[in-house]
Amino acid sequence: MKLEIKYRCMQGSCCVNCREGVIALDESLFNELKAVYEDKELFRSPKGLCRLGFSQPFKVMRMVQLNDQGEVIEEGAQVDENDPIGILVAEHKDIMKKFDEIDEQIKRRDIDALWISTCELANSIYLHSGLKEEEVLFPAMRDVLALGESLTSIIKEEHREVMSLLSNFRTALEEDNIMDSIITSMIVSLKGHIRKEDQEFFELVDKCLDKAMRKDLVDGMKKIETTFVPAPVGERRRRSNEERDVFDDNILAIKELTNAGCCH
Ligand SMILES: [Fe+2]
Ligand SMILES: [Fe+2]
Repeated sequence: MKLEIKYRCMQGSCCVNCREGVIALDESLFNELKAVYEDKELFRSPKGLCRLGFSQPFKVMRMVQLNDQGEVIEEGAQVDENDPIGILVAEHKDIMKKFDEIDEQIKRRDIDALWISTCELANSIYLHSGLKEEEVLFPAMRDVLALGESLTSIIKEEHREVMSLLSNFRTALEEDNIMDSIITSMIVSLKGHIRKEDQEFFELVDKCLDKAMRKDLVDGMKKIETTFVPAPVGERRRRSNEERDVFDDNILAIKELTNAGCCH
């Protein structure tokens, strides 16, 4: 079994710019290297990795298992409950899994199943993006991350766009319509958003967090999770004429936005 490990070198006086990185190791070698230290989070750097040629204490920041083809094994991947970024990345994967289910339901034109699955998706996105990211992570980032305020504003705007598309898709379901273009736009936007967070934003955030901040963020996220009440699926019902007018205006605006070209 191979492991892919994101590490941080704990040698404070090192002058070479290799303090963080990602390596793949056989599990047996990793077990040997970590046996050197009592601290369970540390392992000794493998031969040749430190550019100064020493064996340095490396701290495990994130670890996943790889299959024989070198691909990350998603199922059963361990989430470090003390790592707020690891928790958010794992939630992205759960959200992405929902897309396959929705895709199948669209192919079957199963409106009732879509009504339920998109409600579940909206709840997951709201808990993840609207609460854990916007209410817990972003406020903590404003003072420690360069351009934190403007970066988080851009991300919030993307959250609004995704939620608005999802809401309009669900409103169409109430009219017995499956608006393929809206759900496709929503999925494309959300995939692009998740990629941006995983590969860019979270990488920046991760570097700013010390142990105390990580703990505060995890505590904040756990607190929100215990008090979160998901919106009930409710009954699908046809709208009144006035409600339909508002909906039609929204659909028109979305169509114009979609026709103008997608920015992701
Ligand atoms: Fe996210
Ligand atoms: Fe987000």
